Amino acid sequence: MKNSTNRGWFITLEGIDGAGKSSQFSAVVDTLRGLGRKVVATREPGGTPLGERLRELLLSEAMSTSSEALLMFAARQEHVLHVIEPALLRGNDVVCDRFTDATLAYQGAGKGIPRDRLESLAHWVHPGLAPDLTILLDLPAEVAAQRMREQGRQADRFEREPEEFFGRVRRQYLELAREQPGRWCVVDASRSLDEVREEVIQNLKNRLEV
Ligand SMILES: Nc1ncnc2c1ncn2[C@@H]1O[C@H](COP(=O)(O)OP(=O)(O)OP(=O)(O)O)[C@@H](O)[C@H]1O
Ligand SMILES: [Mg+2]
Repeated sequence: MKNSTNRGWFITLEGIDGAGKSSQFSAVVDTLRGLGRKVVATREPGGTPLGERLRELLLSEAMSTSSEALLMFAARQEHVLHVIEPALLRGNDVVCDRFTDATLAYQGAGKGIPRDRLESLAHWVHPGLAPDLTILLDLPAEVAAQRMREQGRQADRFEREPEEFFGRVRRQYLELAREQPGRWCVVDASRSLDEVREEVIQNLKNRLEV
């Protein structure tokens, strides 16, 4: 991946709940920092004071699917304006746990909002901004569900969705990756933490050509 300007790299992690995004996040951040790069580590929904308040609501309050999508983009707007764009312009890399692809997968394929409607919102909220690299931690919904059960954490509003929902979300992620193979890198997340970490780091270095 060549980046001719001084702009930083925008790297996102995606995958269904329990796929291992949070577990692999530090591998990405530490690898970049190890290369001497400055990194802003952040997440969605969230990443700003207002965004984190919206996250609380999104993860706990019952609401219509369209309100959910609109609040996701409201949080994203704050994040893009106040965190992501300024960091990239300063030349920092931004590593983000989920971004707009998650909305296409969850609120789109998962909950049925037409993709073109979500893409119009994306175009409104972040015209011209897309990740340089998206790492998809891919695994079957039943394996993710088993991991979450083992973790014993209280499930949030999204994590309480049935397994078929996560099947649709997973298929949408894989479809997005097929559509834009230059941006996406699909990692088999069903292997051990160490094996997945190794592959994440290797793919990251290959794509960044470092
Ligand atoms: N490769 C792996 N092998 C076994 N267990 C794993 C692996 N990766 C993650 N886990 C475990 O699975 C659980 C979910 O992982 P993690 O929280 O990283 O997923 P996530 O994608 O961030 O989920 P969420 O979308 O809910 O934030 C954790 O208990 C984690 O320790
Ligand atoms: Mg997580």
